Amino acid sequence: MKKHQTPPVKGFSKLSKEAKIEWLIAHYAENPSDSLNMLKGYWHNLPEVQRLHDEFIENTISNYYLPFGVAPNFLINGNMYTIPFAIEESSVVAAAAKSATFWLDRGGFKAQVLGMVKMGHVHFLWSGGSHDVLNEIFEAHRSRLLASTESITKNMRARGGGILDIQLIDKTLEEPDYYQLEVRFDTRDSMGANFINSCLETLAKEWKNIVAEQHEQPVTVVMSILSNFTPECVVRAEVSCKIEDINEGSGIDNQEFADKFVRAIRIAKAEPYRAVTHNKGIMNGVDAVIIATGNDFRATEACAHAYAAKDGRYTSLSHAEIKDGNFRFWIDLPLSVGTVGGIISLHPMVKFAHELLGNPSAEELMQISAVAGLAQNFSAVRSLITSGIQKGHMKMHLLNILNQLEATEEEKKQIVEYFKDKVVSFSAAVEIFSKLRGIPVPQAQKAAK
Ligand code: MEV
Repeated sequence: MKKHQTPPVKGFSKLSKEAKIEWLIAHYAENPSDSLNMLKGYWHNLPEVQRLHDEFIENTISNYYLPFGVAPNFLINGNMYTIPFAIEESSVVAAAAKSATFWLDRGGFKAQVLGMVKMGHVHFLWSGGSHDVLNEIFEAHRSRLLASTESITKNMRARGGGILDIQLIDKTLEEPDYYQLEVRFDTRDSMGANFINSCLETLAKEWKNIVAEQHEQPVTVVMSILSNFTPECVVRAEVSCKIEDINEGSGIDNQEFADKFVRAIRIAKAEPYRAVTHNKGIMNGVDAVIIATGNDFRATEACAHAYAAKDGRYTSLSHAEIKDGNFRFWIDLPLSVGTVGGIISLHPMVKFAHELLGNPSAEELMQISAVAGLAQNFSAVRSLITSGIQKGHMKMHLLNILNQLEATEEEKKQIVEYFKDKVVSFSAAVEIFSKLRGIPVPQAQKAAK
């Protein structure tokens, strides 16, 4: 069959898992029996666990593994944590662990939640007159709007959360006839997306009824949806120490290290090209914890980058200063996470990740995630301003290269030993591998493709 000429398939989601795989393999697999074995090889050997994964999404045909690693020795607010990371990038866990140990000897990390408010909007159109007219209707019926959500918010209110506030916002300067009901929520230990959206859809219906009763011009609801931008749900994580205590280990003077570090942060603040990479390094740590704990990394990413641009220009999420002989490095990060709901009580690895963290509250998980981001950022910037990033990164990547070359365990051992005091590169690894195996370099390179 010609590439991209597969005929459309009807009712695919209704097929059994086996039939779906059969169809896929018939149309796409280069080597049908290898693909079949590979897909089935990734099924969980306990059928009830596999069934769970099958039912998380539609059309599950197999599982997609990510390494689940841990970084111990994180001292956060005086408590010790071993943090779980789900990530494929070679150097991330090593960098986190290194940063944890470094700060363990210097007082550890401090973290505090600055706010836990989440928001959602009923986006609607109204062309019946001035904002004041609509606002009068809104103010007179605010409590009726709230009352309409009572059955949905009952359990959340019992846990101390619920709807905090509703505002009518005039957006007609941005789009003709466009208004919002802007609603603030406290969703306690749940991320709250379903709760917020259910409340918003109920509010939208009631608001339509109210306006229809009060005015000849009805409202048209465009959509009702939470916002993943949560600038009022923010956590701060920080580290600090006396400059004389830095003793960072690469041989450079403490003051010089601190100056170089703070300058690197200033550059990330001033320069969006650098800021994006800098923040990517922060998200290496944050996302890995978010994924390991069963949270929504897409929401976390979207929000973090919007926050980085909140003042009109994309900039660094982390900050550093030298003041009165002290080095201080910190991050303010908007994070909407849950420790109940979603897949948290279902996915066995996610359950274990929460157990590992002592079954934290959402506030505590915000603190841990932000610390993981700050720790990553510290390690990355520390390497960048001293040895360069490739030394550590390529050392960790060496095993991936050797696996690509299909090196045996013995070959790997010898080659890792060989690179102990040398800089790793792909070509150097291929060269030493070829030499060891007694094959020409091109032959080894071909195997690595
Ligand atoms: C690599 O995944 C992340 C870094 O590029 C971050 C940084 O440059 O700060 C090392």
